Amino acid sequence: MTALSMPTTPIPVPRLFSFIAGNTGPWRMESSTAIAGQPIAAAPCIDVVAGAGTIPVGASWLLRGITSNERYVERAEKTTLVSKQEGLGRAQATCAALIPIRKTAAWWALTQDERRQIFEAQSQHTQIGLKYLPAVARRLHHCRDLGPDEPFDFLTWFEFAPADEAAFEDLLHALRASPEWNYIDREVDIRLRLAAD
Ligand code: HEM
Repeated sequence: MTALSMPTTPIPVPRLFSFIAGNTGPWRMESSTAIAGQPIAAAPCIDVVAGAGTIPVGASWLLRGITSNERYVERAEKTTLVSKQEGLGRAQATCAALIPIRKTAAWWALTQDERRQIFEAQSQHTQIGLKYLPAVARRLHHCRDLGPDEPFDFLTWFEFAPADEAAFEDLLHALRASPEWNYIDREVDIRLRLAAD
């Protein structure tokens, strides 16, 4: 068998990620602001690791979330998203935001079609977000199905260049003014900057 025809073992793509706040990690925490509900303690740094992670001695907190299949996007939206979005880890994207979010019991009591109605028809979440691509790169982590004790339903992660910070504020302003945000009872806005070597 030649090297070219050797069967290849696919490299598993991690889905579970841990965000560990403490004294180490590439992302320096600049602020931690409670937008709704209880705050989260500030810490010097955040490390983002694949897998369940463990809280090192001296670390402040750990939040876990898992990437998943999409629930709301329709085909045309998905095609546009894929054509415009860029991935995490771009050299120029030295600013990040970790925004953990919990939605209300009223949201979770809705049916899927009712949630989609609020998410897109009433709030235009995807249409608003699309305007900020590719400047803002994002990854959505779900926490709700990890267990009953998760403090948040979602961990949202964004990366952008310093020049796009004002645009990111505009994006937040537009989303937070939308009907979807009436169903959010805990939101913490944690801002980070890639530590210089
Ligand atoms: C960068 C621009 C953005 C784009 C293009 C975008 C796009 C999307 C899309 C397409 C989904 C639905 C995924 C699915 O079908 O399940 C989604 C979900 C979500 N996004 Fe965004 N988004 C953006 C910014 C934001 C921001 C700034 C926040 C938080 C402040 C946010 C919070 C969320 C949350 C919490 C969900 C999950 C909603 C749920 O399942 O109930 N997004 N986003």
